[in-house]
Amino acid sequence: MTHPPSYRQLEHAFDHLAPVYETVYGPHGNRVMAGLRQKNLAVLEAEFPPGARLLEIGCGVGEEAVYLARRGRVILATDVSPAMVGCTVRRAARAGLSHRITGLAIPAGQLDALRPRLPFDGAYASFGPLNCEPALPRLSAALFDLLSPGAVFVCSVMARWCPFEIGWFLLHLRPRQAFRRLGPGWHEAGLYGTGERRSVPVRYFTPRRLAREFRPYFLLERSLALGLLWPPPWLDHLYRRHSRLFDRLEPWETRLSGSFPWRMMGDHILLVFRRRE
Ligand SMILES: C[S@@+](CC[C@H](N)C(=O)[O-])C[C@H]1O[C@@H](n2cnc3c(N)ncnc32)[C@H](O)[C@@H]1O
Repeated sequence: MTHPPSYRQLEHAFDHLAPVYETVYGPHGNRVMAGLRQKNLAVLEAEFPPGARLLEIGCGVGEEAVYLARRGRVILATDVSPAMVGCTVRRAARAGLSHRITGLAIPAGQLDALRPRLPFDGAYASFGPLNCEPALPRLSAALFDLLSPGAVFVCSVMARWCPFEIGWFLLHLRPRQAFRRLGPGWHEAGLYGTGERRSVPVRYFTPRRLAREFRPYFLLERSLALGLLWPPPWLDHLYRRHSRLFDRLEPWETRLSGSFPWRMMGDHILLVFRRRE
């Protein structure tokens, strides 16, 4: 059985990934990821009005922080990896947005150390930081203290049920791989891009499972599938080969992604939580 990650282990793994992250997962490196990102950003823009003071958890190389800061939001961008935070801060400077983006290297589970002068108007954690976080109840309590009453917390996490991936592996007669996300507890997940075999322990979530971690302090308002009929980002080559077919499926993807039961599955799921009053 895989053990939960230590922050040291996460820091080390993601520091290593930081220099190549943009090339591998940025809009030019991975077209599937770019599509998922668009949907994620549309929700963040709709939930957080211009002028909002936001806390970002697991900011990576700052793609979303810069996008939102360009549109008037002010962001404290945090990440367990100092190298990722460094990329975000430099990117903000290049974009002339240093006055709206501040970087801080801190794990999600230690955010209770923050003492802001004003509460944040909202928070978000996009594309997987929470899958790697071993202390979600502590994070949930910290967010309750850091956000204003009624504020929204948006996160996208790797889902437990990914129909496309299950179908793909079954088609290739690899049943163990097909159901690899389903077991409880922690699983080793590969980090691609560095040219070395590296992995970090992750947990895969259903909306209900994640909502349980946040329940005392947050209400789950809605969930949305991200990557239902489209292949997951690691099958980007498949998307590129058949992009016209997958683009034709896009309206269906959009239609299904918010409806039961599809909103509970996908490569990622996006969850919108509201802080209790
Ligand atoms: C897949 S990347 C996503 C980055 C960014 N949110 C994006 O959408 O491109 C996951 C990020 O979460 C960070 N991360 C992983 N575990 C974390 C934790 N426990 N606390 C804070 N950040 C974490 C990693 O360092 C990495 O930058």
